Amino acid sequence: MNVYIETYGCQMNEYDSRLITSILASDGHGMVRDVGAADVVIVNTCSVRERAELRVLGRLRHLRGLMRKEAVLGIVGCVAQRMGDRLLREIPGLSFVVGTEQYWKLPDIIESAGAGRTVVNVGTGAGESYDDRPGLDEASLCEFVSVMRGCNNCCSYCIVPYVRGRERSRATSRIVDEVAELVALGTREVTLIGQNVNSFSDEGRGFADLLGAVAGVARLQRIRFATSHPKDLSDEIIDAVGSIGKVCEHIHLPVQSGASDVLAAMNRSYTREQYVALAQRIREGIPGVALTTDIIVGFPGETKQQFRETVSLMNEIRFDSAFMFRYSVREGTHAAGLADDVPEEVKIARLETIIGLQKQVTSEVNAALVGSSAEVLVEGPSQKNDELLFGRSRAGKAVIFPGDAELAGRIVSVKIGSTSAWTLHGGDPVLS
Ligand code: SAH
Ligand code: SF4
Ligand code: F3S
Repeated sequence: MNVYIETYGCQMNEYDSRLITSILASDGHGMVRDVGAADVVIVNTCSVRERAELRVLGRLRHLRGLMRKEAVLGIVGCVAQRMGDRLLREIPGLSFVVGTEQYWKLPDIIESAGAGRTVVNVGTGAGESYDDRPGLDEASLCEFVSVMRGCNNCCSYCIVPYVRGRERSRATSRIVDEVAELVALGTREVTLIGQNVNSFSDEGRGFADLLGAVAGVARLQRIRFATSHPKDLSDEIIDAVGSIGKVCEHIHLPVQSGASDVLAAMNRSYTREQYVALAQRIREGIPGVALTTDIIVGFPGETKQQFRETVSLMNEIRFDSAFMFRYSVREGTHAAGLADDVPEEVKIARLETIIGLQKQVTSEVNAALVGSSAEVLVEGPSQKNDELLFGRSRAGKAVIFPGDAELAGRIVSVKIGSTSAWTLHGGDPVLS
């Protein structure tokens, strides 16, 4: 059958959609890019904030209208896991609801759905880590590789542990094999992903060992990873990032708030001071490192003063960039029991304040790079202007520069001539 998949949410969902593609391909199904040509339409969903969820539910209703009448519609991922059979009442014409640990069953489920049966399978508890994903036929230059699934932290605002289950690491050998398979198909950069990669553990070996093992894959040029929880980012990992040539100098280290009492209410297990000291150790141990973060404004009880502490932390650390969010109540989480007492207009104003501040800081941090040379992995023509090339620096910054499209896949050195808030613009590339 022809399958169309649409993906929302984080890198793990991107990875899972590839996983679903390979599970279905090994059962003889093919992928299509046009929803109107599909026999099966699958939407892989995110539950992290209410707005993300509402958008996806709206999209599902809309897709039903774009699909062929006889095609079946299914929902997978975190919203499927969270809402289960409630979704059948919300989305008319929905044929299947499949949770995050049940993707192996999709070939059977699709068959049943095709025969007119409605299927809901959101079973959990098996600790599925998809270690034996079927082989792939093709790969991109940059790919995600899951090293662990689930999360054992209980950040009080967060739905992820409820929809992704307990943390479990994949075996090092499987991860290395998967990276080697991708490299054989043309991949040159992998991003090792998990909700909390720093707590990776395989028979006593930790994340620093995993970085060393993956770096041993010949012809792989770059390794990135996300996400790092501040409480688990050890000196050993900092040393590994600083010393293993293939590991890029970028750490995504969500801080969430600059106020220690808000961090305590969030159950983040570090204080502002501990975070600042860690950021300093990272900058000393990894020259040229980019530090990026996630921030939530309007957590229950967040006062004006506590919000100012977030602003002052942003000024103190000067992150290279940040993802910034308004707090969103998630049913079933610990924080859902607290009064969501910061008015929506205050949340919006606080968010606007920090977005403006971060844009300013990012522009300044990038402007300081003018005149320096960046090592860039060329990804291909720039989307906005196909006469220019696009790639990322080791720090993960977008770089646009002139050059021949045949350089795609090569590492070049680019001298930075000018910058904007989100992009570095460079001169002619030099092969390194
Ligand atoms: N495991 C990662 C990412 C989790 S989700 C981590 O621990 O950092 C990505 C980001 O979404 C979080 O870092 C947080 O900033 C934000 N987020 C999670 N739950 C949220 C909620 N209920 N409201 C607003 N933002 C939230
Ligand atoms: Fe959510 Fe916290 Fe786990 Fe990240 S570490 S996924 S924010 S519970
Ligand atoms: Fe969203 Fe699920 Fe990822 S809730 S952030 S898609 S783990």
